[in-house]
Amino acid sequence: MTAPPDEHREPPSSFVEQANLRDRTICEEFEANWPGCWEQAADVLDWHREYDQVLDESNAPFYEWFCGGELNASYNCLDRHIEAGRKNHAALKWEGKRRETRTYTYQDLSHEVNEVAAALRDLGVGEDDVVTLYLPMIPELPIAMLACARIGAPHSVVFAGFSADALATRMESATSEYLITCDGYYRRGNAFNQKSKADNALMELDNDVTTVVVDRLGEELDHTLDERQYDYEDLLIAHAGARVSPVARDGEDMLFLMYTSGTTGEPKGVTHTTGGYLSYAAWTARTVLDVKPEDTYWCSADIGWITGHSYTVYGPLALGTTSVIYEGTPDYPDRSRLWEIIERNAVDVFYTAPTAIRAFMKWGEQYPESHDLSSLRLLGTVGEPINPRAWKWYYTHIGNESCPVVDTWWQTETGGIMITTLPGVNTMKPGSAGPSLPGIGARVVSEDGSTIEAGEAGYLVIDRPWPGMFRTLYGNDDQYVHEYWDRFSVDDEWVYLTGDGATVDEDGYITVLGRVDDVINVSGHRLGTMEIESAIVGVSGVAEAAVVGGNHETNGTAVYAYVSTDHSQEPSEALEARITDAVEDTIGPFARPEDVIFTPELPKTRSGKIMRRLLENIANHEPLGDTSTLRNPEVVGEIEAADRKE
Ligand code: WT7
Repeated sequence: MTAPPDEHREPPSSFVEQANLRDRTICEEFEANWPGCWEQAADVLDWHREYDQVLDESNAPFYEWFCGGELNASYNCLDRHIEAGRKNHAALKWEGKRRETRTYTYQDLSHEVNEVAAALRDLGVGEDDVVTLYLPMIPELPIAMLACARIGAPHSVVFAGFSADALATRMESATSEYLITCDGYYRRGNAFNQKSKADNALMELDNDVTTVVVDRLGEELDHTLDERQYDYEDLLIAHAGARVSPVARDGEDMLFLMYTSGTTGEPKGVTHTTGGYLSYAAWTARTVLDVKPEDTYWCSADIGWITGHSYTVYGPLALGTTSVIYEGTPDYPDRSRLWEIIERNAVDVFYTAPTAIRAFMKWGEQYPESHDLSSLRLLGTVGEPINPRAWKWYYTHIGNESCPVVDTWWQTETGGIMITTLPGVNTMKPGSAGPSLPGIGARVVSEDGSTIEAGEAGYLVIDRPWPGMFRTLYGNDDQYVHEYWDRFSVDDEWVYLTGDGATVDEDGYITVLGRVDDVINVSGHRLGTMEIESAIVGVSGVAEAAVVGGNHETNGTAVYAYVSTDHSQEPSEALEARITDAVEDTIGPFARPEDVIFTPELPKTRSGKIMRRLLENIANHEPLGDTSTLRNPEVVGEIEAADRKE
């Protein structure tokens, strides 16, 4: 999918001259001095106590980084900038759905973070207690994250679009007894009740939960507070002016947990540490996203996902820059909204998802053209492969051919960017993410683990640890080893399995092809096919379901559900609606199938395994290949007909 050589681009010299990283020898330098090279990342931060050892591999694949070091993330994101005389510098610029704006200087932010930290302590939150945050894109979300970090309580942010069930599952798994949520928020211009979802989740839990409620909608949405529920504003007033000294955390102590989808029906709690994660988020924000303290920087991802954690909150604030947070969607109230925000705030660096870019393309260049985007210096993408056509559109119509574009590959588990071009160093090849970052060991291997030839497709693996890596799955060390490390590791040579397929070219540029496991990526939302299937088979009348990712013009990939019904039930539109509603209720609206295709049976191998690959081919209208291993080959024609709605 990579563009031909005449479409490769060199970084513009105007960019290179000012780039945070323009030294071409960095890769050799990192190789020669690995893992010591990662001191460079740790040095971006202020440590309360210096570490004694960069990397401890003795208990691999349970690696430890910057051993013996102590630090506090909120100190690094706030206090140290204030101590450096930058108290009046803007930390957050918030753009509300209804055009309200709020700016928090580092001083303002520190003030509120301290008050919330004091309030949480008062409510009983102790070090290592997991606090769940179920909030939309409002400043109170990063404030609550930093308040937790200040007192050493790991946060678990649950994307606001998740259902009550999904919230309850995550709180239960994390044994979280504290929740911060809000009354509601605006969705497509309407008031949407978030608290009722949270209350439903709490009813599903056995233990008592202490809840803090942010009043986002004021008089537009009434809400009442039950026992153990506190109003955020009241807590701020009760703790006005409070100061909480940042707790010194061991570098390996958990900073947060983030649930993500995997190949089983259960979400996995990915754990990230204070020292390694924060160093890596800050270092990559500086070297790849070229973030400078004087910049206005905007990552459009929701803070409810890892991208927002690393590149809206922790990375940018650790670097002392100004980070933009936008509550709304790109097309509300009109399709110029993002470009208007970039123009008005004179945004220097913009980081978004290919899905969004494909939508902008479809809407047309008249929207960006009606705004002055000349403040932009660097553009980034993340979340899914970007096709060369979308890349070129972004480069031309948003970047005016004068901003490098970085196509950054990484995952919830990796904590930060792993594969990308360095914007001040490397040639850009549209469609290919680029080489491994210095010090990162990304490789593409064949079925037996051997390195493959340039151009051939294989498994994307990482053969060395890195500071930003997750340390385990919460409460499940066995699954951590089994799911990520067992496949290609030999003796003491640990190899991390990413779950993606990829190719690599002669220059070491990696083109990521997409997931090779039962995970699908829809508009940058990671979904487990098993999770969706179990929601569907819970609907009465459904016998079996198989969910696959199929091509979709704007979203890249969409969810297609193949469903067979039992004797009691004929396929109908009403059943289809019950199925899509069930997915929405158990996971969230973003997981809704694009299409439900009823079929008399699902295609199965002789051993009874559903042949998803075949369903994927059907969804994509691709040749089906060999179907002779099927137990029920006759069903294929019927499914194809159903797919075409014949
Ligand atoms: C999966 C991880 C990490 C931020 C958001 C997603 C896909 C991510 C790229 C890219 C091709 C990409 C992979 C990966 N992905 N970035 N630049 N090119 N694919 O985090 O939800 O953990 O999903 O997103 O398939 O495994 P996530």
